[in-house]
Amino acid sequence: MALAAPVSHDDIFGTEAVRNARAVDDALRELGPVVKLAREDITMITRYAPVSDGLKDWQAFSSRSRPWHDATSVRPEILLTDDPPRHTAVRPVIASALSPRALAQMAAAFSADAEALLREVKQRSGTVIDAVAAISRPFVYKVLPDLLGLPMQGREHMTAFGHMVWATMGPQNELFHEAMENAGPVIEWVEQCCNRENLEPDGLGMQMFLAADRGQITQAEAKLLVGILLSAAADTTVMTVSTAMHAFSLFPEQYQELRRDPSLVRSAFEESLRWDSPSRMAGRIATRSVEIEGYVVRQGERCGLMFAAANRDPRKWPAPDRFDIRRDLRGHLGWGYGVHACVGRSLALLEADALLKALIRHIERFEPAGEPEPWMTTIGHGPAGLPVRIHAV
Ligand code: HEM
Repeated sequence: MALAAPVSHDDIFGTEAVRNARAVDDALRELGPVVKLAREDITMITRYAPVSDGLKDWQAFSSRSRPWHDATSVRPEILLTDDPPRHTAVRPVIASALSPRALAQMAAAFSADAEALLREVKQRSGTVIDAVAAISRPFVYKVLPDLLGLPMQGREHMTAFGHMVWATMGPQNELFHEAMENAGPVIEWVEQCCNRENLEPDGLGMQMFLAADRGQITQAEAKLLVGILLSAAADTTVMTVSTAMHAFSLFPEQYQELRRDPSLVRSAFEESLRWDSPSRMAGRIATRSVEIEGYVVRQGERCGLMFAAANRDPRKWPAPDRFDIRRDLRGHLGWGYGVHACVGRSLALLEADALLKALIRHIERFEPAGEPEPWMTTIGHGPAGLPVRIHAV
């Protein structure tokens, strides 16, 4: 007989819970591998093994509908909202635009931008800076729209757009409505800047339309792909770099280790993704009944597969709260897993490589100077502000 899953009556997406998302998610995981959220009528899968199994089994955990799914929302309805075969037909368009050859051509521009930014930031040595406002956001918000070939005008709407898209992945609560305030001009900008005629001819955005010209996808799908690139690539990367800097301030010996051995840059970024993942969960719908450690998730149930909690599950990760850039990170779920695993991973890693290498060249150490200000969105997670005192090399 199936076990009765523990039920939580807490609001894990409310303002207070979002402020403490790390502790909230970890506590849910310790309640059980499957937990019902009474308020939202959602089944949360919390521990490493079942989350990774669930992400792999796209037939049982479909993306075609999701908790809180609204097909009319600002979220581009493509890829993350598809299962194979449609998903399989569209994904290679982005994957091939991010081929190793294409990435090699981007590397020099990323390094030059990172170097210029850090030369400026190091002038503030000895003072407290907000590392999100001074380092991670300006870097990503410059290199990404440049790469996509977006017009300069209106780029200031990127933050609000990212926030709105993240909000659509969670319940329509107070935080959702805050994110949607003044949506009009943002939606108008996205609508315009994802149009073919407004994209630079040699940018990544135009690559989507060239794939449509070749008949791989439709013109409408090309426009949706530009929208998903814009929304999926920005804040995830900003948050992961910001979290890495937070960790560098809390674990100074790890930062010194990285400075001694810059070949660890990638591990440091991946460990940051594991240690405090920027996406709390992936939404799916169960298409059939699935047994998980004696509990049964029934067909039709709305599910949340908890990346962040799974990435700190002590059943998988020794001393999970410790930031350790030499840990064996194989199998962490910060990029997702299975057919929807992040298709932009190599791009994010390239950005991280440029920025973290510039950091270790110019910043000798980060000193904590207060609590990070949390990013107030239900599903996304990370510092929106990070006070640290920097000491230049
Ligand atoms: C550190 C930065 C990043 C993180 C942590 C991250 C995380 C993720 C995760 C967890 C998923 C899976 C979501 C799910 O299964 O529901 C995903 C998918 C995706 N990511 Fe990323 N991402 C990052 C950067 C990027 C970048 C730079 C791009 C731009 C190319 C990108 C584009 C996408 C797309 C298009 C998908 C959907 C893939 C699919 O459905 O097949 N991401 N990402």
